[in-house]
Amino acid sequence: MFRIVCPCHFGLESVLKFELVRLSAADISAADGRVSCSGGWETVAAANIELTAAERVLIELGQFSVAAQRGKTAFDPLFEGVMQLPLEELIGKDDAVIVKGSSLNSALHSVPACQSIIKKAAVRRLMRAYHTTELPETAAPHVIQFQIRNDICTVYLDTTGIPLYKRGWRQHANAAPIRETLAAGILDLSHVRADTQLCDPFCGSGTFLIEGARRAMRIAPGLHRGFACEKWEQVSAQVFRDARAAATEKINRSAEFHAYGFDSDPEAVALTLENARRAGVADRFTVKQQEIRDFRYIEGQNIVCNPPYGERMLDVEQARALYRIMGRVFPADSTCTVISPDAEFEARFGRKARKRRKLYNGMIQCQLYQYWK
Ligand SMILES: C[S@@+](CC[C@H](N)C(=O)[O-])C[C@H]1O[C@@H](n2cnc3c(N)ncnc32)[C@H](O)[C@@H]1O
Repeated sequence: MFRIVCPCHFGLESVLKFELVRLSAADISAADGRVSCSGGWETVAAANIELTAAERVLIELGQFSVAAQRGKTAFDPLFEGVMQLPLEELIGKDDAVIVKGSSLNSALHSVPACQSIIKKAAVRRLMRAYHTTELPETAAPHVIQFQIRNDICTVYLDTTGIPLYKRGWRQHANAAPIRETLAAGILDLSHVRADTQLCDPFCGSGTFLIEGARRAMRIAPGLHRGFACEKWEQVSAQVFRDARAAATEKINRSAEFHAYGFDSDPEAVALTLENARRAGVADRFTVKQQEIRDFRYIEGQNIVCNPPYGERMLDVEQARALYRIMGRVFPADSTCTVISPDAEFEARFGRKARKRRKLYNGMIQCQLYQYWK
């Protein structure tokens, strides 16, 4: 049994928590930007393949204080802390060890220096455990991730590798795509279901619509990609075969979902269709070039979008002009969810949201504005 930790976008902890509940994970707990549970390799495999809002699946190896101690150098507690971790349980004699991490509000603030100390301590621990004076590091890479916050160091092993938001279907994106994991979380909060008629009038590269289609059809986001730990000798290939078979069984091809996408940019329209084809859901898509001022709402549609923010795309006043148009063309009783960093959004849109929720799109603090009948 491991302690499994899944980082996520700030604001999506509750979404991720329920995804883990649906996977029947044990001892689930949520903190800022991460949700953890207990489980074995079966849970690690299912989490990598099926979670839609997690960024990675990490195994927690241990946690210790790295606060300065009298008579010791600043790095001693870090070295000694790593030396205490049972690394040989998960890292083989020939495995390559890579160290990555971050530090905030701590005396040990140099990330490269911490990386080098952790690597030295890990090598020393493994050499001692394997009774050798040399580690060839010729086998599968194992990435040790460390996080130092307020002089507490937590050490993880990354089972995922290429981050989970890379589903494998997006070859190209437009100027300001939303991350797949954030889109998936927003779609969960927007109650996208098997029979949803999802509409994105600013579809860009089609992220909301493709994630929505796959959610409605219950196609697990990681079904068609690989994960770092699948190359480890410690993990049986059967565990991932079983997890993929279980995820495949859940697919609902008879879902009545349909996606309606619009964008003023013809390249975005082409991109959405190409990405939908790559994701295997294009037969449920209706996409056309259209200015937001020409938008016509169809009764029953669920609108989910991230219009330009005035940061990477347009300026703030141009973005606000779009919010005013949206307020005119989205009927007062339409169901819609809009993510925007603009505190003036409701004033420009012309209506107070029924629900507001703080969410981060990368480093940009946003609000999710939700409206329904
Ligand atoms: C922030 S991007 C949306 C990104 C999209 N969610 C994705 O993940 O790729 C905003 C989109 O709005 C489109 N857009 C800008 N002005 C528009 C307008 N007046 N009418 C319709 N679409 C517009 C842009 O072409 C761009 O694709």
